[in-house]
Amino acid sequence: MRKLTYFVACSIDGFIGGPDGDASFMVPFVDEEFFEFLKSEYPETLPTHGRRPLGIDDLPNKRFDTIVQGRASYDLALKEGVTSPYAHLREYVASRTLTESPDPNVEIISTDLVGRVRELKAEDSAFGIYLCGGSAVAGELFDEVDELVVKTYPVVLGTGMPMFGSGFEVSAFVPDSVRTFGNGVVVRTYHRKR
Ligand SMILES: NC(=O)c1ccc[n+]([C@@H]2O[C@H](COP(=O)([O-])OP(=O)(O)OC[C@H]3O[C@@H](n4cnc5c(N)ncnc54)[C@H](OP(=O)(O)O)[C@@H]3O)[C@@H](O)[C@H]2O)c1
Repeated sequence: MRKLTYFVACSIDGFIGGPDGDASFMVPFVDEEFFEFLKSEYPETLPTHGRRPLGIDDLPNKRFDTIVQGRASYDLALKEGVTSPYAHLREYVASRTLTESPDPNVEIISTDLVGRVRELKAEDSAFGIYLCGGSAVAGELFDEVDELVVKTYPVVLGTGMPMFGSGFEVSAFVPDSVRTFGNGVVVRTYHRKR
């Protein structure tokens, strides 16, 4: 069984964006040191339209070959006219309203999201699955999440969009690594205690 990894950025108080999901306050923290880390450790999490202008479109995938995201997160790319924001991955978008996929590389999951993700996890691959978010889809897939990579930016929001849009439940995760960066960003990885 391959892993579903929620690779997510948040504030110190655990919000992945403002109340409407806006995560633009995080952008200034992607400085040279942190970008080098992303490029070398998680190159496939950099979107295609970010990679191309930098001439790093051909970076090989390191950990993931598949991405799952919610329609609201996918919409951010669609609004910029980008129909395949992670062209180097197999892209799955959860949506009950998108009846047709806007791109041949994007498959829409309209029913049984958990079941479809379980099927993807059961596939034979050396690479894992990148759960991009947002909050709603991460909440629905919470029980399927095997690993967390939490990029914490040194800001407090007070309120905002939670990491998981799910109900109250205490679930144990085991820390695997912590890395800190000069600008105060901290990246922690955990695996779920099963
Ligand atoms: N900080 C980070 O790392 C990070 C990462 C990703 C996203 N974000 C932020 O998160 C925000 C979006 O999050 P969100 O919680 O509003 O939305 P989301 O999880 O991205 O997408 C929600 C949508 O997914 C579809 N969906 C949800 N459950 C489904 C199911 N069981 N079956 C089929 N479709 C399903 C629905 O689409 P339909 O309405 O089409 O049916 C729903 O409206 C964005 O603003 C983005 O900035 C932050």
